[in-house]
Amino acid sequence: MVSSTMRLSDTVTSRDMLESDLIDVVQIESHATAFPWSLKNFQDCLKAGHQAWVYCNPAQEIVGFTIVQKVLDEIHLLNICVRQQDQGQGVGKMLLDTIISYAKQRSSVLIVLEVRRSNNRAQALYIQAGFNEMSVRKDYYPAKQGREDAILMGMDLTLLSFFDQNE
Ligand SMILES: CC(C)(COP(=O)(O)OP(=O)(O)OC[C@H]1O[C@@H](n2cnc3c(N)ncnc32)[C@H](O)[C@@H]1OP(=O)(O)O)[C@@H](O)C(=O)NCCC(=O)NCCS
Repeated sequence: MVSSTMRLSDTVTSRDMLESDLIDVVQIESHATAFPWSLKNFQDCLKAGHQAWVYCNPAQEIVGFTIVQKVLDEIHLLNICVRQQDQGQGVGKMLLDTIISYAKQRSSVLIVLEVRRSNNRAQALYIQAGFNEMSVRKDYYPAKQGREDAILMGMDLTLLSFFDQNE
């Protein structure tokens, strides 16, 4: 039980995602988004060797996960999700911090992602972390009615390392 003064993010630990996590991962995403990935999407990511992490609570239940793909000197954020009942407690920010550290360790120059235009919550998370809107992919996603635009967002890590050095 997490005390009222302690956020869930203070108690979680991260590890690499395993094939045996995928049943839980699929379930978490299917409750959290209207257009979840299939089990095969996740299996393909692990088979392809993409980096994936899960965050677990003290009871070792998965509360969030993320998957990235390294493409040359860029990191592409493929998926990030926090269990519905655990959202708003800093886990999303921790997942993003994990990705940013990973990208910096690999001397990547850019982290990119796509987000639905309607996903204000995720956009707020990315903007707060330092991402900027780069462009719009019109009608990129299927939507409940018709299609929906994707906002392409990026974090320029060359600028970040400039600010780190000059702090
Ligand atoms: C987007 C998501 C990963 C955020 O995870 P989270 O654990 O809820 O986020 P955090 O608690 O770390 O919040 C970090 C920041 O996000 C923003 N945020 C979080 N909840 C928000 C809400 N309800 N409304 C607006 N902004 C919100 C805030 O900027 C917040 O910072 P603050 O707590 O300092 O105000 C989570 O909501 C989720 O899994 N959504 C479903 C899947 C999804 O949309 N993935 C993104 C696909 S591109």
